[in-house]
Amino acid sequence: MATNPLPQFPSGFLWGVSTSAHQIEGAVDERGPSVWDAFTAGPGHVKDGSTAAVACDHFHRYPEDVALLAGLGVDAYRFSVSWPRVNSPGGLDFYDRLVDALCAAGVRPVPTLFHWDLPAELDWLERDTAERFAEYASVVAGRLGDRVKKWITLNEPAEHTLLGHALGAHAPGKRLMFDALPVAHHQLLAHGLAVRALRAAGAGDIGIANSHGPTWAASDRTEDVEAADFYDLLLNRLFADPVLLGRYPDGIGELMPGDVEADLKIIGEPVDWYGINYYQPTRVGAPEGAEIEFGGLTLPAELPFTVKELEGYPVTDFGWAVVPEGLTELLTGFRERYGDRLPPVVITENGCSYEGVDDQERITFLDGHVRALHKALEQGVDVRGYFVWSLMDNFEWAEGYQRRFGLVHVDYDTLERTPKASYAWLRDALRAQR
Ligand code: NOJ
Repeated sequence: MATNPLPQFPSGFLWGVSTSAHQIEGAVDERGPSVWDAFTAGPGHVKDGSTAAVACDHFHRYPEDVALLAGLGVDAYRFSVSWPRVNSPGGLDFYDRLVDALCAAGVRPVPTLFHWDLPAELDWLERDTAERFAEYASVVAGRLGDRVKKWITLNEPAEHTLLGHALGAHAPGKRLMFDALPVAHHQLLAHGLAVRALRAAGAGDIGIANSHGPTWAASDRTEDVEAADFYDLLLNRLFADPVLLGRYPDGIGELMPGDVEADLKIIGEPVDWYGINYYQPTRVGAPEGAEIEFGGLTLPAELPFTVKELEGYPVTDFGWAVVPEGLTELLTGFRERYGDRLPPVVITENGCSYEGVDDQERITFLDGHVRALHKALEQGVDVRGYFVWSLMDNFEWAEGYQRRFGLVHVDYDTLERTPKASYAWLRDALRAQR
């Protein structure tokens, strides 16, 4: 159990927790369909056969959840706005009420405009989806912009591309392998167009939440180093370079559709801050011609790399390695790569899946990662905030309800919320920061 006080963070540092609409809201009949509704209905797509039809029923129970946020004492709450809900009559009313409740509780609302629940009639293979996204962004800003002062365009476009469109493990379940690259480009374009649309609507303080982690080559052998470099390109550079540098890594732009140079000017529209979701490093080696089991996924044999186990580290109940120092390495590496092009950074997600309400392992995990974050600050990285994934247990995509990332336990039969030991730990840690 972590007992030493955490190092002191600068005043104004933003402490928060994160969720996403599809994972917690439920109330699917009170909105139009998203690609996730159809995908979960398919046989074998979600491991425990569950759907997000009810999830945490946050749509109806949000006052209780806002009270939990207030009790935790966080400065901010990162949630996502469901695009199909906004497209449905009265859909924005829900977010209006939620934002009002957050403001009344003294918690800053930080909405993400897209967290994977694309309206069922849209497709990221179509360029037009990027234009539609910008229109939707300005509608949301028009309604919530008087109270929302910090915005996130997209969540993890890398995973949405890879898992949803290349490997078929997430909605919409496409297995296009490298033909999925236009999905990456159109999401990046959507991001850039939305930054412009939000600013035109008077909104500011705009960021994106990209997932990143250090890539460690399995050995010094050239084959391993090259395979690791390619993996690193896919995870760390493909979505960061266009946003931060206004260009694709070498060899990638040629593979993208449309007038890529013109699009990059839009994609590279400067952001006010850069969000990073960090979970673990990846150890990568040369392809071995066999399927790869990784983080609950089965990756096809034809990939030009293999992912290896990270030996010597504790693992969460999901089997993910616990490597707090990977966060320091990631942030100092970003600072080195992007220099002055890197705006202030916010950790928009970090967390772990463990069973149980007396979750001492989660406390150890969070304590270690917050200390690792502080080390990055000491080494000169301008980090302005840290959001735990997640406020409460929720629908973990293709894993269903078997993975519990919450500070608050949810009983999926009764929907009762029970704060875990980590909730009390974080509350006390935040008090000590004031
Ligand atoms: C990344 C995603 O943004 C979130 O939706 C997911 O639940 C967590 N990581 C944990 O896998």
